[in-house]
Amino acid sequence: WQLQPSVLFAMGPVVPVIVIKDLDDAVPLARALLAGGIKVLEVTLRTPAALEAIKLIAEQVPEAVVGAGTVTNAEQLQAVIAAGAKFAISPGMTRELLQAGKEAAIPLIPGIASISELMEGMGLGYTHFKFFPAEAAGGTKTLKSIYGPFADIRFCPTGGINEQNYREYLALPNVSCVGGSWIVPDNAIASKDWHKVTELTAKAVAAAL
Ligand code: 3PG
Repeated sequence: WQLQPSVLFAMGPVVPVIVIKDLDDAVPLARALLAGGIKVLEVTLRTPAALEAIKLIAEQVPEAVVGAGTVTNAEQLQAVIAAGAKFAISPGMTRELLQAGKEAAIPLIPGIASISELMEGMGLGYTHFKFFPAEAAGGTKTLKSIYGPFADIRFCPTGGINEQNYREYLALPNVSCVGGSWIVPDNAIASKDWHKVTELTAKAVAAAL
């Protein structure tokens, strides 16, 4: 991997989890996030426009570090690499995906919600994970407990994280960044309110420091 997960995790405290329905939104949304101080973007594979959105952002907004989210199998991993994704994030893990991630040109961040999954990923050499669904899987309490036996592992928790609780996660020694959709709300995207996105982003970044 040319981009090390530790470098990726250090690029910013908040990673927006983005759902692009209208391809025309991809570039202005990426620019709105950059204007607010965020350059790592996770475009989820939850819509038909996702792959093309990654491609457009990679080509037209080179200052951004655009990756793919909701990558659940090896085939999708290859597809997002072909689209120009700089990293891939999965809500979970399978052995097939973990193996494919080891051989891929871009870093894969597998998702875990249990110690056994963590150990399986570690067994293949992974050290950086998404913790998902963070709030439902015990939130900061769980992460604090995991830090005991696995102090070297770093997480990007996601799922139920918002303006109210994200700083509690960032305060943990094993949390490098958090992921969330609160800075890219559906209604702001639907109304193409890019100023709102920039405002939410700038606020989240400023309060994280
Ligand atoms: C993800 O895939 O990371 C989550 O769907 C994002 O969760 P959130 O919408 O609760 O931030």
